[in-house]
Amino acid sequence: MVIYFSGTGNTRYAAEVIGELLHNEVKDIKKLIRQGGRTKFYSEAPYIICAPIYAWRFPPLVEGFIADSDFWGSNEVYFVATCESQTGNAAKYLKKICDEKGLKFMGFAGVPMPENYIVMYKVPDEEEQKKIFSRADRELVRICNTIVRREQLTDSLDMKLAKPFTSLVNPWFFGAVVSTKKFHATDKCISCGKCSGVCPYNSISLKNGRPVWGEKCTHCMACISNCPTEAIEYGRKTVGKPRYLCRRKPKITWR
Ligand SMILES: Cc1cc2nc3c(=O)[nH]c(=O)nc-3n(C[C@H](O)[C@H](O)[C@H](O)COP(=O)(O)O)c2cc1C
Ligand code: SF4
Ligand code: SF4
Repeated sequence: MVIYFSGTGNTRYAAEVIGELLHNEVKDIKKLIRQGGRTKFYSEAPYIICAPIYAWRFPPLVEGFIADSDFWGSNEVYFVATCESQTGNAAKYLKKICDEKGLKFMGFAGVPMPENYIVMYKVPDEEEQKKIFSRADRELVRICNTIVRREQLTDSLDMKLAKPFTSLVNPWFFGAVVSTKKFHATDKCISCGKCSGVCPYNSISLKNGRPVWGEKCTHCMACISNCPTEAIEYGRKTVGKPRYLCRRKPKITWR
């Protein structure tokens, strides 16, 4: 069973490719996270849990969800992260959760995909995106080959230098950078409510037809990127920047 969380579609795409190649059921956990409570999964096949990397780890809301869920049937778990290029020491924390839950950690791999973090960076242009996805597709096939053989999955990204700093960078990022304070909607807002429906923390409500942000946030970029009129900005940092949403559908085969 493939289980995924995605803010702007890259990880959804990765999960769907893996699901299609392995003929596995694919489950989006955003709704379950929004609902809260404990989730029970059952799968005879190994679990493959996919999420984006935020500051060199899986997002806290995904790590928390895994820790609070029950996994019946298979006790083998593979982890696949989509990222821009750096997975840091994400695998260490996922292995720890597996150890605590009595699950067998079957390895971790990061798959570089287009940058979605428009609060800090720019989205690559269309040409660059095509090249990135072509490399990503090859890496996803390698990952699926490893899973089919039930071998330990290894990361193709060399994180020797980043690893030791994850324990400093990640808490700083979530403590000092991630916040909803700078989100606001401009006059382009048409009161459609889409931003409110895509927030994994249920943090956005509509007041007088305009979104209002609560406190909880993971900077997933789902609200700002899904707005149909590009009415959402993050301070001045996102003004004039293209938004990013991956709408690709899997069409790759075994090679
Ligand atoms: C809050 C935030 C933090 C990020 N941190 C990293 C990072 O540490 N390393 C990296 O390579 N990419 C980082 N990225 C880029 C995303 O991991 C990457 O674009 C991912 O594929 C997005 O997946 P999604 O479309 O499924 O949400 C970050 C993106 C966001 C929104
Ligand atoms: S998604 Fe955009 S247009 Fe729709 S309510 Fe939110 S800010 Fe307004
Ligand atoms: S407020 Fe926006 S960026 Fe923050 S978690 Fe919700 S959807 Fe993601």
